[in-house]
Amino acid sequence: MRIVVGSDHAGLPLKQSLLNGILTEYDVQDVGAFDQSSSDYPRFALLAARSVASGKADLGLLICGTGIGMALAASRVRGVRPAVCTSCYTARMARAHNNANVLCLGGRVLGVGLAEEVVRAFLNTSFEGGRHAQRLEMIEDESD
Ligand code: RB5
Repeated sequence: MRIVVGSDHAGLPLKQSLLNGILTEYDVQDVGAFDQSSSDYPRFALLAARSVASGKADLGLLICGTGIGMALAASRVRGVRPAVCTSCYTARMARAHNNANVLCLGGRVLGVGLAEEVVRAFLNTSFEGGRHAQRLEMIEDESD
């Protein structure tokens, strides 16, 4: 599985921990940020979202202070469905019911241990389709 990851300065420490931990098991592309200097989250969100939308990456992981800015920015790219998750349950549901393809985490919200479990839950859950697919189509229709 190919995963594109990105963060701003606020998400960088958690991203680095995940890159050195659970993400070593995956084929990962890091689009930045690469240092702690203040940076703009939309830059990294859009780079990662375009990678998912084009099929270059299967899933994305974006980390800022809260995950919220990353999700707002990534959601503007057609075909990208970001989800801010703070628990294993929301991560599983984001995949199973919402077919989320970009997980957004808050580096100032989650500790490394929980973040690893949330990432694992997201990556190991598949979309259930069926009625959930119809509901997602309703959202796609709105953006036509
Ligand atoms: C940066 O201070 C912070 O605003 C950003 O990381 C993010 O949380 C925005 O949503």
